[in-house]
Amino acid sequence: MEKYTIVNKVDISPVICEFEIYAPLIANAAKAGQFVILRGGVEGERVPVTLVDWNKEKGTITTIIQAIGKSTAQFNSMAKGDRFLTVAGPLGTAVEIKNYGTVAVVGGGVGIAEVYPIAKALKEAGNKVISILGARTKELLILEEKMAEVSDITIIATDDGSHGIKGMVTDALRGVVEGGAKIDSGFIIGPIPMMKFTAKLMVELGIKPHASLNPIMLDGTGMCGCCRVVVNGETKFACVDGPMFEASNIDFDNLLARTSEYKNEERQLLETFEREHKDHKCRIGLH
Ligand code: FES
Repeated sequence: MEKYTIVNKVDISPVICEFEIYAPLIANAAKAGQFVILRGGVEGERVPVTLVDWNKEKGTITTIIQAIGKSTAQFNSMAKGDRFLTVAGPLGTAVEIKNYGTVAVVGGGVGIAEVYPIAKALKEAGNKVISILGARTKELLILEEKMAEVSDITIIATDDGSHGIKGMVTDALRGVVEGGAKIDSGFIIGPIPMMKFTAKLMVELGIKPHASLNPIMLDGTGMCGCCRVVVNGETKFACVDGPMFEASNIDFDNLLARTSEYKNEERQLLETFEREHKDHKCRIGLH
C-alpha cells in the first residue's frame, strides 16, 4: 500500500472525522502527546494534528480532525483510499508518563481525542485516572466509551445538560475534589479559554496542571519560530519544547491573541470552499 493512504475514515459528527492512515515509520515511533503535520496537496497548508492512536502491526496512525478552516474542511472531504501528500512526524516531545498517583485528564471538544492517548498511557503506568470530558451538547461529545475504557472514573459535562452534569469541566473538577478526591497531577487539552481556566482552578486546588498548546505552526521542527509561546516568562517553541507544558505559568492570553491573528482570512477561505463543495455538505461542516 502507498504511504499516507487513508485506510479507514469514520464521520464522528458533521464536522469531526477520524482517519486511519498508513504510515508505518510513524506508527513505529509514536508516543503519547506527539503530533504529525499533514498536507493534502502540493499547495496545501501544513496542518499539525495530534496522534490519537497508532498500530505498529498494521503500520497505521489515527488522527481526528475537526473542520474549522479551509484545509481541515478539505481533509474531511477526503475518503477511504485517498492519500495525504505528506505526513511528517512523529513531532514534539512526548508527555512524561509515570505513576503520578491520581491524575485528572480533562478534554474539551475535539481535545478529548487528543487527550485519549495520554489517559491510556497514564492508566498503563499504574495511575488512577479520573477523566473529565466536556462538550457543548451530547451530540458533540466524542470518544466517551474509549475514554471510559482507560479511566477509573469518567465524568461528563455539557453546557446544556443534555448529558452528564450541566456545566463546564471546571464545575466537574471542583465537584470531584470537593467530593474527597485527592488529585496529584492534571492534563488538559481543549479550547484555549477552557485550558486557561482549568489550569487556574487546578493550581487553586493544589493540582499540578499540564496543558497541550496549539499555536500556529509551520515547519514543526523548531526552525521557523511560528509556534512560539510564553511559559514562565520565557519564549518556548511548542513544536519541539511541547506541545505539553506545565501550565501554571503559561501566557494563555498571548496564545489566544496569536492564534486569532488570521481568523478573518480563515473564515473567508472556508466560506469560499464551502460554496464550491456544497455536495459534500455533511463532510465539511456546513450545518
Ligand atoms: S513550528 Fe516552526 S519553530 Fe515550531
